[in-house]
Amino acid sequence: MAILITGGCGYIGSHTCIEMLDAGYDIVVIDNYYNSKPEALRRVKEISGKEFPFYECDIRDAEGLRKVFSAHKIEAVIHFAGLKAVGESVREPLMYYDNNVAGTVVLCQVMAEMGCKRIIFSSSATVYGTGNPSPLKEEMPTGAVTNPYGRTKFMIEGILADLCVSDPEWSAVLLRYFNPIGAHESGHIGEDPNGIPNNLMPYISQVAIGKLQKLSVFGDDYDTPDGTGVRDYIHVVDLARGHVKAVGYALEHNGVEAINLGTGVGYSVLDLVNAFKSANSVDVPYAIAPRRDGDVATCYSDPAKAAALLGWKAEKNVEDMCRDTWRWQSQNPKGYDE
Ligand code: NAD
Ligand code: WQD
Repeated sequence: MAILITGGCGYIGSHTCIEMLDAGYDIVVIDNYYNSKPEALRRVKEISGKEFPFYECDIRDAEGLRKVFSAHKIEAVIHFAGLKAVGESVREPLMYYDNNVAGTVVLCQVMAEMGCKRIIFSSSATVYGTGNPSPLKEEMPTGAVTNPYGRTKFMIEGILADLCVSDPEWSAVLLRYFNPIGAHESGHIGEDPNGIPNNLMPYISQVAIGKLQKLSVFGDDYDTPDGTGVRDYIHVVDLARGHVKAVGYALEHNGVEAINLGTGVGYSVLDLVNAFKSANSVDVPYAIAPRRDGDVATCYSDPAKAAALLGWKAEKNVEDMCRDTWRWQSQNPKGYDE
């Protein structure tokens, strides 16, 4: 029996492969390498000291998926595969609906056909949209999203919930991630964004290493303690461990559950810049810039449901996140392109 990990070559997927192997699970990985490189999985094997099957396969390719499900006894699927760039989704909405939504439909069709009805889905805090106050709780209304990427996550949550209503054998755990940052403590795997990063932490680390000149802080007039945006940053290894717990839960329970994976603590942009500087003794030049469209002032989780249902809580602090990001960045200045 094995767990299939779609998008397992990506940032969160590669860290989750290691934690799943460490927990004793057999895994099978698929990825189409749209946003990742084979080197990531080579390093996962090196770190874990374990081998596992990999297939270069697109989740929209039903025939390819059937081959994978026929070759292995798959008990459950951790479904990371998807596109995640907010700005790109505004420019290319059909590409996002096709890849994320249609891709998930094809995956679920093949799963049902092959008798595998347990899925752990990578959702996002973005589904809470603009109307809810933090701390964000799972029972709050969702759907007031601000971009097509967010809408794909909201739509897929609905599709998986409908599936669980239609057939009580289905189990779907919708994991709503807050802001994953950090890297494996070995420094061998981490986030390797293409081009100029959109997200704060990779931007900070590329400024620190001199690849980018300075950070633009998007707005200092929000209603927050220092005026800059507040987010719930979570170490990617804690997040990966949350998936191990979610698999255990999905194997034992049917039906649908949405669960936040966050720390419950908010840090501002300047808090993170200062934490990075002091954890790593590096400089991070920045300048205040206008607000970025679509940003909310504050977004952090109530993590109580994950503790109650999964027995999981984040253990690493912001210093760990900053130190581990820097270890990865400074040891791999070109990411996986060495
Ligand atoms: P990532 O881009 O590093 O990983 C996604 C992986 O999926 C990549 O390796 C990519 O090549 C693969 N992929 C994409 N489309 C595919 C397809 N059609 N078939 C097969 N493989 C495909 O992203 P990540 O940061 O690891 O995110 C993983 C998941 O978590 C995504 O679904 C993302 O939307 C979600 N998520 C990410 C964040 C974040 O801030 N990183 C936050 C919330 C949710
Ligand atoms: C964090 C804070 C910015 C860059 C995004 C997606 C969300 C989820 C996680 C997938 C904000 C500020 C940023 C910069 C800055 N992804 N910032 N200068 O926007 O909370 O969430 O990633 O599901 O859907 O929207 O993360 O890292 O982009 O921004 O000042 O160069 O940093 O304004 O306050 P965000 P982020």
